[in-house]
Amino acid sequence: MQNKLNVAVVFGGKSGEHEVSLMSATNVINAMDKTKYNIHTIGITKQGKWMLYQGPVEKLQDGSWEEEASKLDNRELVDLLLSPMLDEQPNNKVDVIFPVLHGPNGEDGTIQGFFEMLDIPYVGCGVIGSSLGMDKVISKQLFVDAGLNVANYELSYKYEISTKLQDVVKRVEDKFEYPVFVKPVNMGSSVGITKAHNKAELEKGLQEAAKYDRKVLVEEFINGREIECAVLGNNFPEASGAGEIIPSKEFYDYEAKYFDDGKSTLVIPAKLTEEEEKSIRAAAVKAFKALDCCGMSRVDFFLEKTTGKVYINEINTIPGFTKISMYPKLWDTAGLSYSKLIDRLIELAIERHDETR
Ligand SMILES: Nc1ncnc2c1ncn2[C@@H]1O[C@H](COP(=O)(O)OP(=O)(O)O)[C@@H](O)[C@H]1O
Ligand SMILES: [Mg+2]
Repeated sequence: MQNKLNVAVVFGGKSGEHEVSLMSATNVINAMDKTKYNIHTIGITKQGKWMLYQGPVEKLQDGSWEEEASKLDNRELVDLLLSPMLDEQPNNKVDVIFPVLHGPNGEDGTIQGFFEMLDIPYVGCGVIGSSLGMDKVISKQLFVDAGLNVANYELSYKYEISTKLQDVVKRVEDKFEYPVFVKPVNMGSSVGITKAHNKAELEKGLQEAAKYDRKVLVEEFINGREIECAVLGNNFPEASGAGEIIPSKEFYDYEAKYFDDGKSTLVIPAKLTEEEEKSIRAAAVKAFKALDCCGMSRVDFFLEKTTGKVYINEINTIPGFTKISMYPKLWDTAGLSYSKLIDRLIELAIERHDETR
């Protein structure tokens, strides 16, 4: 029998999406084929401490893994990850890293840069795709270059919000009608996002978003259906069919995404005309290429209700893998089971590493 691959699943992280990562990682670990992989789990606490964890996967979600992990010797973790860099003979080496981290530090190219330094293949986008995908403004600019439609937006900075809030409000009001969406530029999972229906809500929303990022984006409201498409591949990325999200609340906020016990509905496949489906799948691949993504990404769209126009909303370079997440469900519908999807992602990581070496 072939040797098992050593795969390190990295989860948690300092970002506002720590809890989401715990849910995603639980599902990824459960779906991994244990006959093919030795799984090493590496947790990052909210304070940013790295720990090797060897206990049951059930302890991830409620955070109790931390206590158990803190009993282990960190030397083992150093051995596992850093030995090639230190030119030491490892006792145990990692063949592939699967970062199941969402948001800043995990999905934005920083940790991907660390993995590059370690010279270990890792699942998902590289440094550039990750960092471009994390920045909602720079990615929009590249989407426009690629011929895709985006919602109109206005960019502002934290220092402006704290020192001259009324100037920012005026810029927004000159440009848009209410409601508008206010978002931190570099976040995910709807953290820090609000829908502002009037000036008072806009002011509050700008201040709220500025807690999470130095850049804040205000967007025109698109009255659309929320359609998502999964992309998989390196040089020849393929798009899955499309899925639709029907949020349980006024918009798909953090609560609606993860904590409303399935009141938000996923419709897979989305009920679209052949034409709509085709253009969304093509746009998803275009967006993936525009940001030089590889491995995986989920691309999110609005299909405007009155006009049928397709707007790209954002790209997620480490899509959710929670039990209600769209990315693995879309591939499952396309005939690629959760565990086969993970096999493919790991293969793609190794292929890319071999190619760039
Ligand atoms: N311009 C917009 N028009 C309408 N709804 C929006 C707009 N921007 C965001 N939303 C709503 O807010 C949700 C979260 O926004 P999104 O930009 O996807 O942030 P995140 O990266 O946190 O997922 C979307 O899924 C959608 O429900
Ligand atoms: Mg989103």
